[in-house]
Amino acid sequence: PLPPAFQVALPIPRVLSGAGRYNLVQREVTAEILPGVPTRLWTYDGTFPGPTIESRRGQPTTVAHRNELPVPTVVHLHGGRTPATSDGYPTDLVLPAGSSHHHGHGMHDPRAVTSELTREYTYPLDQRPTLLWYHDHRMDFTAPAIWRGLAGMHIVRDDAEESLGLPSGAREVPLMIADRAFAADGSLAYPSLDPALTTRPGVQDPYLAGVLGDVILVNGAPWPVHEVDAVRYRLRVLNASNARHYDLEAVLDDGRRLDLVQLGADQGLLHTPVTHRNLPIAPAERYDVILDFGQVPVGSRVRIVNRLGSGRTRDVMAFEVVREAADPSRVPDVLSDDLPQWERSDAVRVRDFAFGTGRMGHGHGWLIGGQPFAPDRTDVTARLGDVEIWRLVADVHHPIHLHLVGFRVLSRGGRDPLPRDAGLKDTVSLRPGESAEIITRFDGYRGRFLFHCHNAEHEDMGMMANLEIT
Ligand code: C2O
Ligand code: CU
Repeated sequence: PLPPAFQVALPIPRVLSGAGRYNLVQREVTAEILPGVPTRLWTYDGTFPGPTIESRRGQPTTVAHRNELPVPTVVHLHGGRTPATSDGYPTDLVLPAGSSHHHGHGMHDPRAVTSELTREYTYPLDQRPTLLWYHDHRMDFTAPAIWRGLAGMHIVRDDAEESLGLPSGAREVPLMIADRAFAADGSLAYPSLDPALTTRPGVQDPYLAGVLGDVILVNGAPWPVHEVDAVRYRLRVLNASNARHYDLEAVLDDGRRLDLVQLGADQGLLHTPVTHRNLPIAPAERYDVILDFGQVPVGSRVRIVNRLGSGRTRDVMAFEVVREAADPSRVPDVLSDDLPQWERSDAVRVRDFAFGTGRMGHGHGWLIGGQPFAPDRTDVTARLGDVEIWRLVADVHHPIHLHLVGFRVLSRGGRDPLPRDAGLKDTVSLRPGESAEIITRFDGYRGRFLFHCHNAEHEDMGMMANLEIT
């Protein structure tokens, strides 16, 4: 039986900060997600979500991952401006310690030469402050590994953002939203073709479009509740679901809605805040929003609801406004002045990519430009420093993500971008049949990176491509 909504307290993941180096152990644990029910999880250092790492802009952070799980893993820092060697390419494996996987490897398989039992990822974090997240990225098996718990948050901060006076401390709350399904024995249910996650990738036919769960977790707790003061809160929202889209709104029990004031997008602060009545969020997207509980009487309950859900998947979480308090926070009219201002005329190249379904080997595939992912094929070669426009078109919902760079949405469906497209993004949610133009500069590092659909099942079933920056 599933627990009633708004009973479990919202967990806040443990924060790691103040050091330049962290050691995380990837291991299996038994945790209580549904009250009274033990569930086996794959975790970063014992918890789902993993610890939240906090770094300062431009101060390198090294994370050493030791893999005590039964399968190889790969760690990618999503949204990080990271050199290719630490970006978590899908075949750069962290091999399982204590298994025999490493014997004989690296001899015949050229892709395994960088495989290790413990791997150090070094992140320069020379980038705009924002909420990043880290998650598994192993070739063919990313979706089930994330589903089992391999996801955590990583926040980049800087002095400029801190001087704005935005809500902070307990009034800044990271929210990792992810749906899951549970089997009768309490285990996580996922329709893998190979439950050992070693040989045959992919999911059973009815789930080809993506795997949805009927339990909505926030920070790993089902439909949680969080007590708040009657003041502004800054919510750092991440959709870490494999395939589920949300259209979030904040609703009082009397039906009144509170505005969601957007401060930032995937890649940091907007120039000025944008007010939304509701906010769609696709897998891997992040929104930085203010919710002002000072607008409602103490004793109110504010539910976060998914307008796209039905029945129990309509509820996400609730806030209970429990006390009056002073609010020293501010939301300035101008949040940042350092957004890149690329113009169409800056672009030296326009490329087209169609994201759609097709056949792959003997099964169903999700393809980019008609092709499934191949680690050894270079799909795009871009010159470091070049500005390019990419025209993306989708057959069904596809959230498209580029590694290394942030981009701006230039147009959507041939029209101006939507309010939700404001700012610097690293994931753009294409709706069925929709096209979008994005513009970016390939800045940062040379090497082999990826772009792909962030519906994690689509990603595992081919919808990924190589981006070589030279
Ligand atoms: Cu969130 Cu290629 O990743
Ligand atoms: Cu997709």
